[in-house]
This record gives sequence, C-alpha cells and structure tokens, in this order.
Amino acid sequence: MKTEIVTIEKIVFGGDGLGRLKNGKVVFVPYVLPGEKVKVNINEEHQDYAFGELVEILEESEDRISPPCQYYFSCGGCQFQHLSYDKELSLKEEVLKELFRRQGFKGELPLKEIVPSSSPFFYRNKLRLHVLSHPFRMGFVKRRTHEVLEIKRCLLGDEELNRTLDLLYQCDTWRLLSERIKRVRLEKSLIDNRVTLLFWSLFPINKEDLERIYREAGVKSIFYYTKGARPHGPYPPDAPYGGRKLMPAMFELIYYVQPGVFTQSNWEINLKIMQHVFALGVDVEAVLDLHSGMGNFLLPLVKGNNLAREFIGVDTDPQAIEDGLYTAERNGLNGRLDLQRKSSMEALYEAVQEVKKYDLILLDPPRGGCRELIRLLPDVAVSKIVYISCDPPTLVRDVLLLEKVGFYLKDLIIFDMFPRTYHFEVFALLEKSP
Ligand SMILES: C[S@@+](CC[C@H](N)C(=O)[O-])C[C@H]1O[C@@H](n2cnc3c(N)ncnc32)[C@H](O)[C@@H]1O
Repeated sequence: MKTEIVTIEKIVFGGDGLGRLKNGKVVFVPYVLPGEKVKVNINEEHQDYAFGELVEILEESEDRISPPCQYYFSCGGCQFQHLSYDKELSLKEEVLKELFRRQGFKGELPLKEIVPSSSPFFYRNKLRLHVLSHPFRMGFVKRRTHEVLEIKRCLLGDEELNRTLDLLYQCDTWRLLSERIKRVRLEKSLIDNRVTLLFWSLFPINKEDLERIYREAGVKSIFYYTKGARPHGPYPPDAPYGGRKLMPAMFELIYYVQPGVFTQSNWEINLKIMQHVFALGVDVEAVLDLHSGMGNFLLPLVKGNNLAREFIGVDTDPQAIEDGLYTAERNGLNGRLDLQRKSSMEALYEAVQEVKKYDLILLDPPRGGCRELIRLLPDVAVSKIVYISCDPPTLVRDVLLLEKVGFYLKDLIIFDMFPRTYHFEVFALLEKSP
C-alpha cells in the first residue's frame, strides 16, 4: 500500500480532510484537521482523487482534542469528536460557504448566525440501531463498511435512551427475539422523560413477550412493524394518548407524536428554529407548509398569530397528519390548522390552479431537496420562502434555482442540530426580488 505525507488544506462536506498527493491528486482523509501534516495510507485511488487512512500525525493542530467516545474511530456516526466544539462550528461555516462558492453563488453570503447546540453530546432524542443475533448485538454501521459495530452507549443519545439500551441488552426475551428483529428505534418522550420502543420484526410477536420487554426495559410503550406501512401497537393497548410521545413546544403547546413519525432529533435546536419561523409568520395571514410533518412549525404560528386566515400544511405521511390534527385538538386549536395528506407537488399545483397566494411558504424537504417544486413556486409565493434543510448541498442547489426564478437569498442561518457529526441544519430566508 502506498504511504504519503500530506498537508491538510481544509475539511469538506462529509467531514474528511482534503490534501494533495505528490502527483497533485486530491486525497480525502478522515479524522484530520486543517493545517495538520499527516502520514496516510492510500487505500483507494481513482482517476482524479484518492481516499487515505490516517497513519500518523506529524504536525498536530492546536484544535485537536482526545475524542471521548470509545467507538469514535470505527463507528460511522460521528466525524468531529477529535476537535473542539468551537472549531467544529467554524468548520461547518467554512463548509457551507465552500458549497455555495463551488455551486456558483456570487457575492457576499448573507450568513447571519451560527446557532450552537448548548450541549454537543447527549442531545439526540432518538436512536436507531441494527439488531443482530449469533452473537446478539445492537449497533451502528462501521465507517465505510456494511458491518455492524456493537454499541453499548452512544454519547450523542439522551441518557434515558442509553439507559433503555442497557436494559434491552439485559433483557433475555429481547435477546431471544433478536433472531427475528432487524432494527430498533428508541424515541424519548420529553415531557414525561420516557422512552418508546419501535422495532422491525420478521414475524408477529406474542403478547407475553411484549409484556416482558415492556416491563424489563421499562419503556413507555412498544410498537413494531412487520409488513405494511403502519406499525402494530401500542403495547400496552391502553397506553396513554395511543402510546404517543409528548414533546413541548412554544406557547406551552404539547405535541403528541406516534413513534416513526418524523420529529427533529435535537429538540433544543428545533425550538430555536421554531422561534425563527414564528418571527417571520407573526403578522401574516396565509401560510403554506409543503413538508409540514405533524405541523411542527405551523402549530406555534397558528397559536400565536391572531391574523391567521389560511394556514395549510401538507405531508405524504398519513400518521403525521393524524398526529398534527390530534395535537391541534388537544391544544384547543381544532379547526384552525388545515393539515392535508397530499404531496407538496399536488398542493402547489392546486394552489396555482386556484390562483392562491401565500405570504409565507415553508419548505423542509427530505434530503433530496425540492428541485421539482421550484418552477411552480413563483406563481404562489407572494413574498417569502423559508427553506429549512438537513442536507446543505441540496439546499444550496435549490437556493440557486430559486434565485433564477425571481427570489433572492436574504438570510442564512446555520443551526447545529447534529454536533460531533458533519451534518447541520440550514435555514434560508428568500424574498421576491424587487
Ligand atoms: C425533514 S421532514 C420535516 C417535517 C416537519 N417540517 C418537521 O419539522 O417535523 C420532511 C417531511 O417531508 C415529508 N415528505 C416527504 N416527501 C414528501 C412529498 N413529496 N410531499 C410532501 N411531504 C413529503 C415527510 O413525510 C416528512 O414529514
């Protein structure tokens, strides 16, 4: 295997450091920092680039720290535990600027703020692990492999999730059932500080086994998928609120969410994004949320805005819509929030046909972004679009497309939803160009 000494120029999206080999080819190396001189083994070489493994640090960055997690150098989950949190935030800023630059954004980027997570660890309110038998283990996929690495404790997960994980390791019934279970998801209900268990099983599970797991793992409720889009559950059948988790939001709202329905993983950051969205929608009459989920960003707007005339949210997940309507009813907002199960494209197409206009349109798409919606947006959005994304490259692509159809980027904020990983959330405010 070829070994070379490389100086790291910068960190790229994905968390790897970028350096250059003697022949000028770019090499990507994990676990390094800008300015460091490192010895690397070149383990994969392509025509224009290569991948290297860190062998030795010859000149170390002063931002380097010792990673607290025992799994850090093999687990695929974290990329930024070997540097201070302040440095991580500034690298994320650089990465976002570079993404804009590389995709052709001209001029000064209106980056207003980088909002950190108050705790760079223990912030996740859900964890998803693979389950394997012979030998029994639960874990995450190892970096750059499909192999599962056994994890007994994840430093990104809330302590209550780790406690449940520990109890599951001790539960004999769970261990025996591991032959038929493929994945498990632990979700914390923040108001009552309890964990819901959601898993994927090859066959139905009998009541006695569910009862044992319920008791021994001390969970709030259990749901599981076999075939089909809806999970079985809750167990116990009389679990309060249908086994939903309870999450606190602005204006003392309580969200009631079935496990499996999308919720943001770092709730403190979610609340901060919510406040930003609210500030933009406080005095508007008509809002269209094209990826509303259970109404996460719309519900505070409905509660706190007396001018609200037409607040519509659409999402393709029927359970998210159920939860949003259930939440609205339990919070006394029945009838004020119009949540519909429909695709964003369908909703936008209808809005164009009916010549509807909205003061504010919210976009919070899955990782693929929403390129296909952009053609129709100028016909519906009167003034503002808020685009929130956990996938910066697609957000950058879509912002540039929006600029082509008559919007300009007014504000950009980084919300560090995922400390210690290369992921981060970006909030972009676009307004109609004058
Ligand atoms: C990143 S989540 C955001 C949900 C919500 N805004 C929140 O903060 O909880 C993306 C949402 O888009 C929904 N979704 C995926 N494809 C969609 C489509 N074609 N049309 C509408 N919603 C879609 C998913 O079901 C999911 O709820």
